Amino acid sequence: MEVQLTVGLTEGAVEYSVTDSGVGIAPENLPHLFERFYRVDKSRSRTLGGSGIGLTIAQALVESMGGTIKATSIGLGQGSTFNFTLPLHQH
Ligand SMILES: Nc1ncnc2c1ncn2[C@@H]1O[C@H](COP(=O)(O)OP(=O)(O)OP(=O)(O)O)[C@@H](O)[C@H]1O
Ligand SMILES: [Mg+2]
Repeated sequence: MEVQLTVGLTEGAVEYSVTDSGVGIAPENLPHLFERFYRVDKSRSRTLGGSGIGLTIAQALVESMGGTIKATSIGLGQGSTFNFTLPLHQH
């Protein structure tokens, strides 16, 4: 598994991108990822897997700083990308 981090400057914001070569995310699951306690694989044990709050917290932190976060994936087995922005200036 590989994880690639990139950072870029857009107009007024820093854009971070985290791409992994992991299991990927099916299109029907993408809209729910940031919901509290949502986990794609519900049978996965909570000790091995997570509790489904990591992305909810990440989204709350990013949005509290005026940014946005999104997840994309071409599909299962194709890895995932998480993009988030942080504005350079407070509005
Ligand atoms: N990089 C990823 N690749 C594929 N699926 C992911 C990825 N990150 C999150 N997911 C899916 O989204 C769900 C929600 O993610 P989230 O980070 O909120 O919770 P979690 O990883 O299960 O637990 P934790 O609270 O420990 O982060 C995960 O259970 C998993 O199904
Ligand atoms: Mg997590």
